[in-house]
Amino acid sequence: DRDERFTAAVITLSDSGFAGKREDKSGLILSAILKEKGYCIVEYLILPDEQSQIEEELIRLSDKREVNLIVTTGGTGFSPRDCTPEATLAVATRNAPGIAEAIRLHSMKITNRAMLSRGASVIRGKTLIVNLPGSPKAVKESMECIADQLPHGLNVLL
Ligand code: MTE
Repeated sequence: DRDERFTAAVITLSDSGFAGKREDKSGLILSAILKEKGYCIVEYLILPDEQSQIEEELIRLSDKREVNLIVTTGGTGFSPRDCTPEATLAVATRNAPGIAEAIRLHSMKITNRAMLSRGASVIRGKTLIVNLPGSPKAVKESMECIADQLPHGLNVLL
């Protein structure tokens, strides 16, 4: 095992969160879960649902900051502004669909609405990027299904 902790960045995608009109419970819960799992949270951002801006930050965090893991919350649904999966797929160097598939499989046992999340999971260089839905409940349910397998994947990426 590695003696250094993996680094992680949390990005919340929410127009209302970005405008300060809504408290970002999901981003805070996601950060707390990742910390509890041993990650060092190096950045926590709230961005509007703007594809070019999301791509820019994903590229910066991967290429310049070289974070091991980026987890996003929000912007995965069907509303016209939701564009997190598009931004994520646009910056990918390799696909890693199994993580998103596992999240939906696990979540479908809890709510059939899980089929409405378009969340993606990809690799950019040595960074793994995972999209989670926007609700605090979905964040918890998604993380409980993938968290144990992520360190192995991150180790192999290095
Ligand atoms: N996944 C889990 N585990 N639990 C949930 O409550 N909610 C769903 C889905 N995935 C949900 C879930 C709902 S209602 C929607 S609309 C989609 O995620 C997309 O959410 P987003 O638009 O906030 O990203």
